[in-house]
Amino acid sequence: MSGELAVGIHDLAFATTEYVLTHATLAARTGADVAKYHQGIGQTAISVPAADEDVVTMAATAAATIVARHGSDRIRTVVFATETGIDQAKAAGIYVHSLLGLPSAARVVELKQACYAGTAALQFAIGLVHRDPAQQVLVIAADTSRYELGSPGESTQGAAAVAMLVGAGPALVRIEDPAGLQTADIMDFWRPNYRNTALVDGQESIAAYLQAVQGAWKDYAEQGGRALTEFRAFCYHQPFTKMAYKAHRHLLRHCGLDAEAADVDRAVQPTTAYNSVIGNSYTASIYLGLAALLDSAVDLTGRAVGFLSYGSGSVAEFFAGEVVPGYRTHLRTVQHRAAIDRRQDIDYARYRDLHQLTFPADGGDHLRPRETSGHKRLYES
Ligand code: COA
Repeated sequence: MSGELAVGIHDLAFATTEYVLTHATLAARTGADVAKYHQGIGQTAISVPAADEDVVTMAATAAATIVARHGSDRIRTVVFATETGIDQAKAAGIYVHSLLGLPSAARVVELKQACYAGTAALQFAIGLVHRDPAQQVLVIAADTSRYELGSPGESTQGAAAVAMLVGAGPALVRIEDPAGLQTADIMDFWRPNYRNTALVDGQESIAAYLQAVQGAWKDYAEQGGRALTEFRAFCYHQPFTKMAYKAHRHLLRHCGLDAEAADVDRAVQPTTAYNSVIGNSYTASIYLGLAALLDSAVDLTGRAVGFLSYGSGSVAEFFAGEVVPGYRTHLRTVQHRAAIDRRQDIDYARYRDLHQLTFPADGGDHLRPRETSGHKRLYES
């Protein structure tokens, strides 16, 4: 790469939905022991989009605060990673580009590979900044996770968008070389074009994720990466927060290290605060983990953080970041906590109605009443 140039995440902001369904409400409906949700999968609430919310509105809300702080003059690329895009041809990022008034001299593209694509977007952004350090790249990872009502996946739904400004001389996290990679053709989770909800073999997806952790780490080590013991914390993709604990235990044991509960907790627990109350946000999930870690009480100054990104199907990547001294003065902790606290509690009937909502396929104009108090949906389908 280009000498000593530090490139990475200069700013990070997330947004989530108008509504929230608690797992206590879900358990009362499904008859499950709520402890299965709270302790078994490590989730207490699900972010539920209103009828006028989607990946574009969440992404625009998250990215607007970044543009307000830094301006957009240096942004020449927008990379939008999502599994739940709104059009098979047009990139969702073009709506965000328009909503935020970004420069017309920009390229905008959408990336897809289940929950992994946000990491591809970040790595591509880093490559672009190395080519021209004067430029910044707006990376967005946004998704709504939706499984069938009554299915095992239902309790792992959620929705959020993370926006990251990637540039030279980052204020938050310097992303390092090398990266460890693994791709394997597996049918553990998929969503064919005719479906609104994902198909998943839950237990197979957990086994495939663990295999991928091992594979990506092996490549990272072979590429000359850091030793496992150098990392203060690990941000894993969190389809449910207990998965991060499973993954870290697996990695420690694979490396011949003890997986003491206290050590696993220390490395993983600070990354779970947001995901445990938002649910799975696919591409955004690992970066919500980073947001929670940075916003936590842990002092990460100059410390190394490991990232394990997994997208079913499957692609996995392990990479490292070093937290930049002074990072705390750039955080958005108050904004992030407010995004979670402002959600309105809904009952099961309202959640079910929103879940079953489908858009007419007649190509006509269908106005929806405004529900959200956040960003307005200004674009047309
Ligand atoms: N109290 C405490 N824990 C309980 C419990 C109770 N009453 N009942 C069950 N549990 C625990 C189980 O022991 C299990 O934990 P473990 O895996 O550490 O043993 C956990 O809760 C989940 O129980 P399980 O029976 O496996 O749940 P499930 O069959 O409903 O499915 C998923 C769980 C995650 C597979 C399912 O939600 C799913 O398919 N999700 C979507 C796909 C996904 O997220 N994949 C992850 C990899 S990408």
